[in-house]
Amino acid sequence: MRVLVTGASGTVGSLVVPRLLERGAAVRALSRDPARRVFPEGVEPVAGDLEAPTTLDGVFDGVDAVMLYPHPETAEEVVRRARAAGVWRIVLMSSASVETDPGADTDHNYGHLHHRPVEEAVERSGLEWTHLRGGEFMVNDLDSLPDSVRSEGVVRAPRGDEPAAPVHEADMADVAAAALVEGGHHGRAYVITGPEPVTPAERTAVISRALGREITFVPLTLAQARELWLARGVPPELCDWLLWEPATDEETGTGSDPQECVSPDYERVMGRPGRTYARWVADHLDAFR
Ligand SMILES: NC(=O)c1ccc[n+]([C@@H]2O[C@H](COP(=O)([O-])OP(=O)(O)OC[C@H]3O[C@@H](n4cnc5c(N)ncnc54)[C@H](OP(=O)(O)O)[C@@H]3O)[C@@H](O)[C@H]2O)c1
Repeated sequence: MRVLVTGASGTVGSLVVPRLLERGAAVRALSRDPARRVFPEGVEPVAGDLEAPTTLDGVFDGVDAVMLYPHPETAEEVVRRARAAGVWRIVLMSSASVETDPGADTDHNYGHLHHRPVEEAVERSGLEWTHLRGGEFMVNDLDSLPDSVRSEGVVRAPRGDEPAAPVHEADMADVAAAALVEGGHHGRAYVITGPEPVTPAERTAVISRALGREITFVPLTLAQARELWLARGVPPELCDWLLWEPATDEETGTGSDPQECVSPDYERVMGRPGRTYARWVADHLDAFR
């Protein structure tokens, strides 16, 4: 089986590639600039830009399955070209944000603006498809936490006591590789979260324990968080979405059980629990030192 991995130099895609090789697949890795990328031995690098479908001529030839990163404006055309070249399976990097109520905040609903149109293009294609609806990635914390941990011994974040179940990038890659080469995943939209709820204040405590020194959690208001994230280069529309205040539990009818944010899908697909936040911190400890 030959698999084309788009985003092959990215956080998740770069972990999918070795998993596919281990499973015996032939791997073609797409990059806009393959000469500047290093892929494992045996991988076939190809050049192409998902935002300019005419650059994809030939990249799908001989390919059975594609791991697709979302580009909403061109998804329909990219999928059409894949199908015309003989691709019969697509595994899409989507987002759990598509599962939130679209009526709740149409203008700021990142999932419905960015990811759902790509899911629809894939579903319409007539090909075998699997959506990987990833929850918040643990690896986002590498952008936001290490600087202040290293220089001041603090973590600044809003909503310190609000649990989430962030997912390890390796867990995303595990499910992607399984869906790409195994049967039995067609028509499934897997929500992939971490195995346990953890609040920002608890994450700080995990980092503190791993480093063996006191790291203090400093709560931010939503306005302070927005200011900090914009200064870090987070796009305004993503800030809006991340800081959007959902309807109250009474309005949505949901309870306050922290386990509600944990999806069973990783364990169902892989037959084992996903990696914890403590495991993720251990895997990236050098960044916090
Ligand atoms: N972060 C989260 O919390 C989260 C949660 C759920 C879902 N997601 C989704 O996950 C995806 C990000 O995954 P990631 O962290 O693995 O990505 P990443 O590390 O940002 O890597 C993105 C990859 O996409 C490639 N790429 C970017 N633009 C391209 C284009 N126009 N044509 C071809 N390739 C292009 C880049 O390769 P080259 O530079 O080599 O071309 C790069 O390898 C996004 O779709 C995001 O919405 C993220």
